[in-house]
Amino acid sequence: MFLSSVVRSAVSQTARQVRSLHRSAARAGAGGIFVHRDTPDNNPDTPFEFTEENKKRIEAIISMYPIGHKQAATIPVLDVAQRQHGWLPISAMNKVAEVLEVAPMRVYEVATFYTMFLRQPVGKYFIQICTTTPCMLCNSDSILEAIQNKLGIKVGETTADKMFTLIEVECLGACVNAPMVQINDNYYEDLTPKDMEDIIDELKAGRVPPPGPRNGRFSCEPAGGLTSLTEPPPGPGFGVRADL
Ligand code: FES
Repeated sequence: MFLSSVVRSAVSQTARQVRSLHRSAARAGAGGIFVHRDTPDNNPDTPFEFTEENKKRIEAIISMYPIGHKQAATIPVLDVAQRQHGWLPISAMNKVAEVLEVAPMRVYEVATFYTMFLRQPVGKYFIQICTTTPCMLCNSDSILEAIQNKLGIKVGETTADKMFTLIEVECLGACVNAPMVQINDNYYEDLTPKDMEDIIDELKAGRVPPPGPRNGRFSCEPAGGLTSLTEPPPGPGFGVRADL
């Protein structure tokens, strides 16, 4: 009797503490569903052609791989396509397959596997908030709340003016500067909710704030200041014995 009440209490306590690993709406802002369904703005006839500049860029990329191994360039060429179009309609993936002389399925396999490839339109500013354990322990929930309140959208949604899309992601490799978000190619780190609101205000005003830590430290130096290597480097020759 006593044991079962203890177990019940432990289970209910654990249930209270459990936080779902991922609250994003099925990667809605990124790849979306894995299966492609034709829509009016995403079908094989959606206009897509590489610009002349990007054609040269692709030639340079392919030239880095051995002859007969164009397929190895799938990821960088998909990246070029996405940067040109903003996201990857199926027609862009088909064009990549044509350029690389592979079956379209070989390109779909890559584009559906890597979450950085966006198979649905996203806003001009694509906000990816990390909520994995180190960021969560540094209160990434408060950053997420600040974004949602400021923009009036939830995870997986895009603002009505198509300016911002918000998704929740796993570790972006900047844990030492937690909490952090990635907006397009930029990392914004050591955030407070006020920092996040300021960043959004800047973007709304058409300015891109400088990326990096917001708490004044340089890169990922210790938050409390340097503890070693505090003097200028002595230069070459330091420590070499004069009699040698
Ligand atoms: S846990 Fe957030 S960047 Fe690693």
